[in-house]
Amino acid sequence: MNSLIEKIQLLKSEMEKEKVTDPPALEAFRIKYLGTKGLLKQLMGEMKNVAPENKKEAGVLLNEVKQFTEQYYQKAQDSISLNSGSALHSTLDVTLPGDPLPSGGRHPISIVQNKIINIFQRLGFAVAEGPEIEDDWHNFSALNLPEDHPARDMQDTFFISRNPDWMLRTHTSSVQIREMEKGRLPLRIICPGRVFRNETISARAHCFFNQVEGLYIAEQVSFADLKQTLYFFVKEMFGERVQIRFRPSYFPFTEPSAEMDISCLICGGKGCNVCKKTGWVEILGCGMVHPKVLENCGIDSRKYTGFAFGMGIERLTMLLYEVKDLRLFSENDLRFLQQFSSAL
Ligand code: PHE
Repeated sequence: MNSLIEKIQLLKSEMEKEKVTDPPALEAFRIKYLGTKGLLKQLMGEMKNVAPENKKEAGVLLNEVKQFTEQYYQKAQDSISLNSGSALHSTLDVTLPGDPLPSGGRHPISIVQNKIINIFQRLGFAVAEGPEIEDDWHNFSALNLPEDHPARDMQDTFFISRNPDWMLRTHTSSVQIREMEKGRLPLRIICPGRVFRNETISARAHCFFNQVEGLYIAEQVSFADLKQTLYFFVKEMFGERVQIRFRPSYFPFTEPSAEMDISCLICGGKGCNVCKKTGWVEILGCGMVHPKVLENCGIDSRKYTGFAFGMGIERLTMLLYEVKDLRLFSENDLRFLQQFSSAL
């Protein structure tokens, strides 16, 4: 029964042809030759059939090939781990300076939004948020803009085709309605968030932008409180030298209503392209909350009064950093964004 001896020799030459260069191949090799059901075990099982006169020779050969296989396995294992990270690890010089990791920065809109939030938080305003998809009540009707009110045209609205009652909010005043409906008074909140209007995209207009609106409702809140609050905001935001003025205006949800201008930051009021030679730029709308809006939210308008204001963050950011094109804010061009990474 010398066929076992032949088999052993065959096994050895086959093994020498194996290419074991990575961990999966190493494991496959182990299972094939050294595993409990591997070829070596099989050959050992055949020992009992070997004729007594050949037993010694076969036993010696089998032992040899077993040792050979184990050494072969060990060598393959060593050379694989030498080429992998674990070996590299031991030769890593931890005192070398690391590769610099470029750190990200905040988007200019976030920088300015955070600045605005921070100023109002110091005055005791809390941040409130709401959904970007709104229903007619919160975006329009509760704000004293009933159906067919001409002022709805001021806000070119994106409607949601699945439900004629739904739309993308055109302002964050909708969040103010949601907060007033909760009935917790007095109320002092600011509502930052993205809003949507169906406008043709250009350097000065976009179909979405960001707002911060504010609302203060308590007993005996007056227009003087509104002015004082906004005065403080402007000084903190743009510095002591900036002038403000109020112009009468119209919003369905406030009465009286006003728009607030600041003296042009670019030319200091002398007149330039940004302020269209007037020396003033409009930055927000505001007014005393219309009694109807309070009543719509279940608030007693004989007991409570309040003021509200709303501003566009893009507009302020353009003024602060002299950005000439609104589209830059949503194009995510790193050459533009990187200029703000160190600010705030
Ligand atoms: N909601 C108004 C707008 O988006 C802004 C505003 C808010 C005006 C509060 C007055 C009072 O145009």
